Amino acid sequence: MHLSFDSTALRKLRSLFTLLTLTLASPLHLFAQSPVGTLSAEELSAGQSQFEIHCARCHGMLGEGGEGPSLKRAQLTHAADDATLLTVIAGGIPGTGMPGIRLSAKDARSVAGYVRSLGALPAEPMPGDPVAGALVYRSTGNCASCHILHGDGVGLGPELSSVGLKRNAEYLRRAVTNPEVEQPRVVDRFRGTLNAFLTVRIVSEYGRYEGMRINEDEFTVQMRDLEGNIHSFEKAKLISYEKALGHSFMPGYSALLDEKQIVDVVSFLMSQRG
Ligand code: HEC
Ligand code: HEC
Repeated sequence: MHLSFDSTALRKLRSLFTLLTLTLASPLHLFAQSPVGTLSAEELSAGQSQFEIHCARCHGMLGEGGEGPSLKRAQLTHAADDATLLTVIAGGIPGTGMPGIRLSAKDARSVAGYVRSLGALPAEPMPGDPVAGALVYRSTGNCASCHILHGDGVGLGPELSSVGLKRNAEYLRRAVTNPEVEQPRVVDRFRGTLNAFLTVRIVSEYGRYEGMRINEDEFTVQMRDLEGNIHSFEKAKLISYEKALGHSFMPGYSALLDEKQIVDVVSFLMSQRG
């Protein structure tokens, strides 16, 4: 008996089989799952060292937060999965104070794994009563005269709707009691870190202006005054231009609120996770 095979069909079948074995055996499909979930203890401790070098100055030595948010949270807003976490580490979060950090693929992976391990730790406790704090915010503190919270208020200072996700208790306390110390920064891809609420005082031939810088380049500066009007100036034509570093339009509340009111309003801010 003579069996005749169609050689093309056989070749096709063979290559299909090879492809199948390759797919099953290849580590590629593991990569797609989680690049950071399976790190060894050594890799995690290498991740911790990298974290202390590159991240701790903003996120705290123990990831407890500071200028950047606490990372001791199971759910990260901008990094729902490991792939986005790696993207956030490499590219930063445009328009915020989170810069991209240059790391080797191996270091990025171990830092990401360390960040995930922080997420397993308990969240930071509130120092006071957020409900009482809401009252301080609305009445005694009159905070809405300068801040927008869930659509209400005046946007002279930064919006506070999700400030509880961005800042930890210690930072918030400093922001309320010593506002000139904590001035939020933004990262600009071209110009580096900028103070987002820098007070500027300008004298031109038309008068004196005080407000917050919203933009500046080599030749011009734009600012918003306290009434919300926007002004643009040609630097060469100014009589004087002062950048008042460390000045804040926000009053320091340590003189205006007692200790209980301060910890309550800080707790109220911590609960803003919108
Ligand atoms: C110059 C300060 C600074 C440095 C350095 C920095 N971060 Fe951040 N990071 C921030 C700020 C500010 C935010 C909050 C941005 C926002 O949402 O407004 C942030 C946000 C994040 C987020 C998102 C958190 C969330 O809830 O979505 C992650 C994750 C993160 N940083 C990880 C890192 C890691 C890892 C490093 C070091 C490799 C690092 N950051 C270095 C300031 C910094
Ligand atoms: C007169 C306007 C004004 C008032 C009133 C005011 N703030 Fe502010 N606040 C600002 C400005 C401007 C900033 C930006 C940083 C700076 O200049 O210090 C700021 C910054 C902050 C920050 C830091 C936000 C961040 O993401 O870094 C917090 C928190 C804050 N204010 C909370 C409050 C609370 C709570 C009250 C009421 C008890 C209050 N503010 C009242 C103007 C004000």
